[in-house]
Formats: sequence, C-alpha cells, structure tokens
Amino acid sequence: MTDKTGWWRSAAIYQVYIRSFADGNGDGVGDLAGVRARLDHLAGLGIDAIWFTPWYPSPMDDGGYDVADFRDIEPLFGTLAEAEELIAEAHTRNIRVIIDIVPNHCSDEHRWFQAALEAGPGSPERQRFWFRPGRGPDGSEPPNNWKSRFGGPAWTRVPDGEWYLHLYSSRQPDFNWDNPEIRTEFEDVLRFWFDRGVDGFRIDVADGLVKDPRLPDVDDGDETPFSDMEGLHEIYRSWRKIADSYGGERVLVGEMWLPDMARAARYLRRDELHSAFNFDFLVCPWDGERFRDVISRTLRAHDEVGAPAAWVLSNHDVTRHVTRYGRAGDTGFSFANRLHSAPVDLAVGTRRARAAALLTLALPGGLYVYQGEELGLWEVLDIPDELRQDPVFARTRGTDPGRDGCRVPIPWSGSAPPFGFGSGGAWLPQPASWSEYTAEAEAADPASMLSLYRTGLRLRRELPAAELEWLSLGEGVLAFRRGFTFALNFSAAPVPLPPGEIVLASGPVSTDLPTDTAVWLQS
Ligand code: GLC
Repeated sequence: MTDKTGWWRSAAIYQVYIRSFADGNGDGVGDLAGVRARLDHLAGLGIDAIWFTPWYPSPMDDGGYDVADFRDIEPLFGTLAEAEELIAEAHTRNIRVIIDIVPNHCSDEHRWFQAALEAGPGSPERQRFWFRPGRGPDGSEPPNNWKSRFGGPAWTRVPDGEWYLHLYSSRQPDFNWDNPEIRTEFEDVLRFWFDRGVDGFRIDVADGLVKDPRLPDVDDGDETPFSDMEGLHEIYRSWRKIADSYGGERVLVGEMWLPDMARAARYLRRDELHSAFNFDFLVCPWDGERFRDVISRTLRAHDEVGAPAAWVLSNHDVTRHVTRYGRAGDTGFSFANRLHSAPVDLAVGTRRARAAALLTLALPGGLYVYQGEELGLWEVLDIPDELRQDPVFARTRGTDPGRDGCRVPIPWSGSAPPFGFGSGGAWLPQPASWSEYTAEAEAADPASMLSLYRTGLRLRRELPAAELEWLSLGEGVLAFRRGFTFALNFSAAPVPLPPGEIVLASGPVSTDLPTDTAVWLQS
C-alpha cells in the first residue's frame, strides 16, 4: 500500500533564490541574514516549506549552480552556523527546509576539478570527470557533437590538449557518475545536510547524471545519451534509502525536463524520488483545453506510481508567468524561444496569473511558489546588456536574453529602488513601477496578488478535498469538482457562474464568470 499521509504530498513550497530575496548586510546581494529577517513574510503567506537554490561557495558563474564546495555556505550569503540557525528558525515556524543539490557538475574551482587539471591525462583525478582526447589529426575538434544547454559546444579544451565535458557553462564540468567515488561523495553530502536538519533536496538536472559512456554523437530526434538513462534509477534508490533512514519524512524532489510524462513518473516509484516538478504545466500556453489535457495526463501518470503531482508556474529559469500570459501570440514557454520581443499586456497577464494561481491552488497534490510570484511580479525585459549576468546571454552572444529578468531582487517596501531589498542597492535594477508591488503595499490591499495567495493558501487547507472530477460547463471553461467546485473561463465572453456559494474569486464576478477569471465555489 502506498502511504498517503506524507506532508510533501500536498505541500506548498516556496522557492527562495537567495541572491535576489533580501539583503541583510547591505552589499546589494541577498543573503541568509536577509532570509532570516523575512521569515515572517513566509509564515504569513502560509507555505509549508522553503526550497533554497544553491547556497554553497561558488564563483557565481551560474548563480551558484557552479558549486565549489558542497559542504559549506557561500561567504556572500553567510556562514554554515547561520544556515543551521536559519533551519532551526524555519522549523520553529513550522516551515520545512529543502536545499538544492547539484550532482551533475561542479564549479571549475572545485578542488577535484583543480586536481584533475593538475594531474593530467590518464590520472584517476581525471576519471571523476569526462576528459577525452579531441577529434581530428591534431585533436583540435571536440570529442563529439554535443551542445551545451547554455549555447556553444559542450566541450572545452585544456592546455595539455584533452577536452572536458560540460552540459552547461564551461565553468561547470560534468561529473562521471560511472566512477564509484562520485556516488560515495554525494551520499556523504546528503548525510552532511540531513545531519544539519534539512528536510529534503531538490535535485538539479536530476535526469542528466548518467551518460552513455561511449559518448556517441547525437542527431536530431535521436535518443539523448545524457538524459533519462536507466542507470539513474539505481542512484535514486540509494538516495531514497538514505533519506528514509532519517526520521521526519525527508524528501527528494527531481528537476527533470523530460518530454514524456510516463517516463518521468518512473522516477517517482515508491523507492525512488518523492516528487518532481510538473514542467508540462509550467510551459502550457493559456488555453483551457491544453490545461485540461496536461492536468489529466499528470494525474494519470502520477496515480500509476502512487506519487503526488507537483504544480509549478514559474521558477528562476523561465520567463515569469505574468509576462508569458500577457504576451501577444504564443503564451507558452520554451527554452528555444523566449519570445523576447513579442508585445506584453501586463494587465491581461496579471488577470490570467491570478486565475492560474487559483487553479494551481485548487489541484490535488503539492505546488511551488517562486519568490515574487505572490506579488505578481513580471519578467524585467529591459535590463541593460552590460548588467546581465546569466551565462546564457553571453554564450548565445545575446540572442537569448537569459534568465536575469526573472531574478530581479524582490521589492519589500518603500517607494523607490531598492524597495527595502537592502541598504546597498540591488544587483539587478528593479522597475520604478514596483513601488505598487512591494510586499508592504500589497499586504495592506485586500485586492492584491499577495492577499489572493494568502487567502488561497489558507482556504486550500480548509476546503474538503476529494478526487477530481471534470465538469463540462461549455467551451473554453475549465471546471472540476473535488469537494468544492472550481471554474476558470478561458473563453472570450462571460459564461454563467456554476451553482454554489463563492468562496474565492480571482477577479470581480457577478452572476457571470468573466474572461480569464477563476472561482472556487461551495455548495
Ligand atoms: C538547472 C537549474 C539552472 C541551472 C542548471 C545547471 O536547470 O535550475 O538554474 O543553470 O540546472 O545547473
């Protein structure tokens, strides 16, 4: 029998991108002191857990996803002692703590990569990574044709002539998971943090650790020899045993961008990961039929393995959904096309984001809230090129704006930048119009996005929650019952409200449900 009682099955988890959350020491960069000072905002929001993006020492080539030491805290963010205090303070408020683990790669400044460079070809130090001779008569061509997900080739040559593999930036060498030393190391890292009280891990690039050791060239449409490889399951089974050996339901959450939901669900079998982000939901364009299809497929695939769905609208890698939903034309998301130049109507985007929030909060399973989503923040599109820091921007020579626009520091209070983010400015510029979107301004406004999230997160716990059953309320209306009734009107014209008493609405409603508006009703 599957245990249905775990906290993580229905948890609302708030993603903190530390650099941009709150700055406690006035250097313009968010830190742990900033988070500690803002824990009450999170407790007041009504979330169950925080997921912290990487907080380890890092040269910050990729916002901390280039880890130099997996057992310490980045000095810009604070100290290990502070992290332990933060974990304890969160626990006092009944908030659990999930941290990011980055097992696919490390920073080029990690001592193991430095040792590999020094030790030279053929050494055991190089076996921890993927070093290979190049192709061509003088080895001057990369060992295969793999591309970095950040643009450009996935290989970089070192002075002695060998090349090393990096699926992301050249400062993020990929580990060789065929080497048992890597497995032991990460099992030990898991224990290190579990021993310090963390409640779980979000596993970065969870589908990518294992590579086909032949490192074959890829053709378009081929199976990828670096994603969703069978050997991963055994790794996660061993991680699950470690998590289960601790009390208090420690969890493992996978970041997997896989095209096939049924394949992704295989990682959520009973003895593997607890949950994984539902990216099909995140990328879905603003279309009722498409949403219904994604939701049905998700529930089916997850039911088969007894795992809960985990709904997500935004994160630190994608265009904020207020902007996506407000775009003329395609409102979906893809890495290949960030639609940088399509015009955006923020009023439309905001109306839809409010309805999407009520949809997400109404669905069975868990959900993620990306910092600033609860304030209705949008993607900042006009960051000057010279201030952009995401390696995606540089590696694509600016053809992809990268992810800085969703990482702009949070506005907390006041009427001018940095809006209470800290006393020393903010590492990316905030729009002046965010004066109306500070946590302080929104807390005082019952019609704000923040008030909607607070009420929705509270009511979500209180409403009866049965199995989801679809309702047909006409074309363009997404509706279901699960103890209460949910309806969202995607069509261009108002539709009659379904029967029941309105518990919460994303916008003004009369006897009709207007376009892009969602309601929860109870009968
Ligand atoms: C994940 C992270 C992303 C990072 C990449 C490489 O996709 O979410 O921010 O750049 O992995 O670590």
